[in-house]
Amino acid sequence: MFLKSISLRKYILLFSIFGLIQVVFAHGIPKLGEKIVRNHSFSNYKVVNPYKLDLELDIDMQNQMIYGSVTYHLKWNFRDKRNQKNAPKVSQKGMLSAMNDPQDMAIFDTKGLVIEKIEGQSGLLDWKLTRSDKILGTALEVNLPQHDSVIVIHYRTYSKQEFKKVDESFISAIQWLSPEQTFDKKQPFMFSQSQAILARTWLPCMDAPAVKFTYNAKVNFPSNLNAVMSAQRYEGIADFLKDYPTKAGEFKNFGKHISRFSDFKTLYFHQSLPITSYLMAIAVGDFNFKKLGKQCGVYAEPGLLEKAAWEFADLPKMIDSASALYGKYAWKEYNVLVLPTSFPFGGMENPVVTFATPTIITGDRSLVSLLAHELAHSWSGNLVTNETWDDFWLNEGFTVYFESRIMEKLYGKDYADMLTVLGLGELRKTLKDLMKNAPADTRLKLDLKGRNPDDGLTDIAYEKGRFFLLWCEQQMGRKKWDKFLNQYFKKHAFSTSNTEVFIKELLDFYTSNYSSGWMVSANFSKSVKQWIYEIGFQEPKVRSTYLLAAEGLSAHLNGLNQQNISFAKEKGLSLNPETKTWTTHHYLHFLRNLDSLSFANMRYLDSVFHFSLTLNSEIAFDWCMLSIKSGYLPAYGFIDQFLNRVGRRKFVYPIYEKLIEVSQLKAKAWKKINNQGSFTLEQLPEFNLALDAYEKANSGYHSVTRTSIDELFHFDEWKK
Ligand code: BES
Ligand code: ZN
Repeated sequence: MFLKSISLRKYILLFSIFGLIQVVFAHGIPKLGEKIVRNHSFSNYKVVNPYKLDLELDIDMQNQMIYGSVTYHLKWNFRDKRNQKNAPKVSQKGMLSAMNDPQDMAIFDTKGLVIEKIEGQSGLLDWKLTRSDKILGTALEVNLPQHDSVIVIHYRTYSKQEFKKVDESFISAIQWLSPEQTFDKKQPFMFSQSQAILARTWLPCMDAPAVKFTYNAKVNFPSNLNAVMSAQRYEGIADFLKDYPTKAGEFKNFGKHISRFSDFKTLYFHQSLPITSYLMAIAVGDFNFKKLGKQCGVYAEPGLLEKAAWEFADLPKMIDSASALYGKYAWKEYNVLVLPTSFPFGGMENPVVTFATPTIITGDRSLVSLLAHELAHSWSGNLVTNETWDDFWLNEGFTVYFESRIMEKLYGKDYADMLTVLGLGELRKTLKDLMKNAPADTRLKLDLKGRNPDDGLTDIAYEKGRFFLLWCEQQMGRKKWDKFLNQYFKKHAFSTSNTEVFIKELLDFYTSNYSSGWMVSANFSKSVKQWIYEIGFQEPKVRSTYLLAAEGLSAHLNGLNQQNISFAKEKGLSLNPETKTWTTHHYLHFLRNLDSLSFANMRYLDSVFHFSLTLNSEIAFDWCMLSIKSGYLPAYGFIDQFLNRVGRRKFVYPIYEKLIEVSQLKAKAWKKINNQGSFTLEQLPEFNLALDAYEKANSGYHSVTRTSIDELFHFDEWKK
């Protein structure tokens, strides 16, 4: 047996049978396929629309549990039995397509939730947990023959022990961190990451992006901590009434429920604009706030607050530029919460408060484009939301395009072009890989039925999406294109859009704005559809003057390396005046363009640039990848540290993947040469590194990161 660690080995075995365990333990025998799954959700949201919710949460930091009650205000689309004058209207088309959905119940999505009781307007209601699916979770069916317009679901999340029984690799939106896992190492921390379909792990909800609702929340948590949600934050009801003097009734559903804890603090939250479930967010920890401008600021742990505030100083300007481009900023405030290093993403565009990885705090403001990206989501995504996860490119492609426009306004075209060139480099890599393994996933419009929507999270949505929109801009001219975008955002604000709606409106606009005849329109239409529905992509022409020097140096060094010439003998590398002024992106471009290098040349590079000492995670990541590619053993200790220092999936996943891939290749090669004899993967430094690092680091990763990496360690492959 090659697996070194017993616990990891046991874990991997468990992994292969976990679907079964989960299903049997939690929910009895599943009856899949009984009812429709629409849009990765079991809910019947076309029949009954949860347009407002009042959430009451007790956050138990010690036992790592949430006790919640959620009051749903429901609008029944077909049978208006109760007074529903506040509820939104529904379209004819929506009604027709929902005729086959259950009409006398409300179905919610849940995953890992214990439902305690559900109250209706005339007492306790009947409910059951039905259907069960590894990806989708469990449906909560609430019988509502009277079509109540208000119901209250009392629930809690699983305790640690319950999670263990179900499956250790259960994915949950919430990560609970011990003090040691935070920056200041003094207090525990918890945060959510609901996108794409994990809101259901902390809140029973109709978890489809097509469903929008407003919310109020009352949150109890230990009094020495702080809390934020994706909503306006109020210290008390009196504070709330200052903003909404006429809305005294908004919090009337609260107060019956008393916290389970003695030393607690209560905060109130109000989201007056309709949002979808994947934008529901919460974080509790020891963090403070610093204002950066009229409507914006940053939350971070006390030890990191000043640094974060310095790094993000341009935020107010970004908000102004973005508003000038696409219309008024709708969400009142724009804040950023800096999370501990285990946050699985770079950023998450939770309304009012973007969640961000601390790895963008580099001390030189070089990675702030990530904030421009999350800010841009305030329009593309949060105002106009992808209707299904198959339309994910509408969220991300638009956002990368807008991010680039914001960056251009703030820092100039050269800077924005530099980011575009780096994006193109990443896209090329993704395309190469996907064209080989899953060509259909290189389409902008995806087909994720029966799959985890996470599968759509590739550079296709982001970068191919961006290059398609850039192509549109070039075809139409910026002025007209901007006019179209403004119109499009206005039309779909606080609602959803899908690929087909976008195409129709784009083609209509094109035809009515260009009188060059039907042939031109027909060609435009053909290309648009090609971009969206066909695999692969048309290489755009983009250039960055900023990156030319870095590109030149990589090419030069690749040439020397190929001829077995040592860099050390080449005079002047360390004195190259250009490299003195390099910032993060130059290094990234430089490292990404290097071939695998000889031991001596890697050592020389490191001695000049000190990559193995860098605390800049972007640079560190590329250095790790180059080191694995080059088999440069002296950097393996650094890789081990890096895998233990950060939990952002974009960094750690590819490193494990590369280490395993290299091990597999070496194993295959070895077997080819030696037909017999014993060979264990433990003999390979790459495999040892991956296993050792993961053994130490995996418990600190967010479950989104951990479960992705678990799949990499799938051991069937190794036996071959
Ligand atoms: N909304 C995404 C993150 C996301 C997408 C989480 C889908 C879960 C499912 C966020 O806006 C994002 O794109 N983050 C990027 C940063 C960006 C600069 C490309 C990331 O986390 O790397
Ligand atoms: Zn995004």
